[in-house]
Amino acid sequence: MAVPFSDEEFRTWAEWLAEELGHRWGPERREILRTRLEPRRAALGLDSFDALLFHLRFHPERGAERERLVPHLTNNESYFCREQGSLDVIAGELLPALAARLGPGGQARVLSAACSTGEEAYTLSILAREHGFFAAPGALRVTGVDVDARALERAEAGVYSGHAFRATDDAWRARWFDPRGDDAWAVRPAVRAPVRFAAANLVQDGWWTALGPQHLILCRNVMIYFDENAVLRAARGLWEALAPGGYLFLGHAESLRHVPIPFELHRRPGALFYRRPLEAA
Ligand SMILES: C[S@@+](CC[C@H](N)C(=O)[O-])C[C@H]1O[C@@H](n2cnc3c(N)ncnc32)[C@H](O)[C@@H]1O
Repeated sequence: MAVPFSDEEFRTWAEWLAEELGHRWGPERREILRTRLEPRRAALGLDSFDALLFHLRFHPERGAERERLVPHLTNNESYFCREQGSLDVIAGELLPALAARLGPGGQARVLSAACSTGEEAYTLSILAREHGFFAAPGALRVTGVDVDARALERAEAGVYSGHAFRATDDAWRARWFDPRGDDAWAVRPAVRAPVRFAAANLVQDGWWTALGPQHLILCRNVMIYFDENAVLRAARGLWEALAPGGYLFLGHAESLRHVPIPFELHRRPGALFYRRPLEAA
């Protein structure tokens, strides 16, 4: 039986989701939100969406229930070698400069923030190998973080269908992946070795502390879902996560134009990116 989702309930949910995940839910998407929440309400046998929110706020098992709900609220769309213009700048300019600066004994630390099912993190590992950077054991650490535990499980598994390879050709896939039956390819061990995944919510404080300073961060195609305040909170975290002199790439549709944090803006043909200056003003 369909359960109503009143204006008042929608507003309370939208406020909570903005606070917890940073997501913007405008009133025009009320029906979509209702259908996303419905499976968890029904599974718990609750008689209203207010009751579901109460459960998520106060129930002793609210942490586990939040983990179950988040995958219903996120868009995990991702694929290998997405937004090639940025990858060209990273491979052609930033990785060589970083390799020269760190020298033979250094470790390059790269972060895929909002990594979803892992395609971006593995793309970065492949990019470094393909161009001959950081091949020695321990010379590269790629970390993928996301708020969606189910997406992280798939990232850990590292097995992908053909859809994830829509921006790459067969030769590229054959070089870095092993076939696993029908329409499935597994990341090769050498690509997998420098990559780790961890849970993190980009709009909550302190997610960066366990990672150590990052030389390069890709945080792409997540801020489009954030409200203004969440963009600011996430941008502060990304600044903290970056080593001084480190670089940040957002998605093509995203920008930090209205964010009062002293990132330097850099432009190249086909790419725009930010840098945390060596000495902040
Ligand atoms: C569209 S995917 C982007 C994946 C990848 N960065 C790319 O560009 O291909 C967006 C991801 O952002 C994650 N996400 C949404 N809100 C988040 C938050 N507050 N903290 C961390 N990750 C979040 C979602 O779980 C989802 O996996």
